[in-house]
Amino acid sequence: MTPKVDSQAVRQAIEVLPLLSPSVTQLLQTLARDGYEIDDVVQIIKYDAALTARVLRTVNSPVFGLLNPVTSLERAISYLGERVIISIVLADQCGDMFTRPLPGYDAQQSALWRHDLFCAFASREMAGHARLACEPGLAFTAGLLHDIGKFVFSPFWAAASGEALERIEQGQVTDYLQAEQLLAGLDHAEVGFAMARHWQFPEALQAAIRYHHAPGLAPEQFRMLSYAVHLGDMLAMMAGADTGSDGMQYQLDGDYAQYFDVSSQDLAVIMLDAEEHFKKAEASLAVE
Ligand SMILES: [Fe+2]
Ligand SMILES: [Fe+2]
Repeated sequence: MTPKVDSQAVRQAIEVLPLLSPSVTQLLQTLARDGYEIDDVVQIIKYDAALTARVLRTVNSPVFGLLNPVTSLERAISYLGERVIISIVLADQCGDMFTRPLPGYDAQQSALWRHDLFCAFASREMAGHARLACEPGLAFTAGLLHDIGKFVFSPFWAAASGEALERIEQGQVTDYLQAEQLLAGLDHAEVGFAMARHWQFPEALQAAIRYHHAPGLAPEQFRMLSYAVHLGDMLAMMAGADTGSDGMQYQLDGDYAQYFDVSSQDLAVIMLDAEEHFKKAEASLAVE
């Protein structure tokens, strides 16, 4: 069967992606390090006037209801926390990319951004229940970035997505990822991984993006993180923060119980907690 998608063209589209600004790359690298300090984050943002303004605008937004306006960057960052900061930075630098509609995934404007943000909070909650050490801040960032491949893949995938749904409905493939592989010769996790390498993301983030649908295949040192994002992704889908058609046939890796100390009731509570944090962040980031 001839693939419906020109995978070579997808790879070329990744190669020509503009590089991220140095502040984004530095921030991702800093937050992926164990034991970073808030001051490291301040040092990166303070040289970027637009970002500084955005952070101050966010902390002073009515959502937080602060009596006295915060004018110092350091206080703003301590108050908001690195999670909200990284969300602001990514929304700021890749805003257009995050909010564009995704024709191949039947997703509305901003849908993927909401899915990613929900997944970020849910992955962080999951990291808190991990049997082995899993840094919650890193799980948050990995959750936020797990589906970046869709941004590049979506316009190419649009030509095949209708057929993918038919094949899923007819039971010819077990899940959406398999449909992508079958019809395009590559999937959004692979595309995301290539983007993460192009942008020189830290290795842990590269691995979580690559293996978020198959965490059992991740190298051992990144497996816990990949499982946290896998579960976070599923919770985002269950909570309705999905990205259109690919919420169908989500294959949960049943081995997750080896990695997390959670019952199904715990998962329901984690989903509600994530939802609460998500709603607040969504309002403060003014995602439409
Ligand atoms: Fe995905
Ligand atoms: Fe996802």
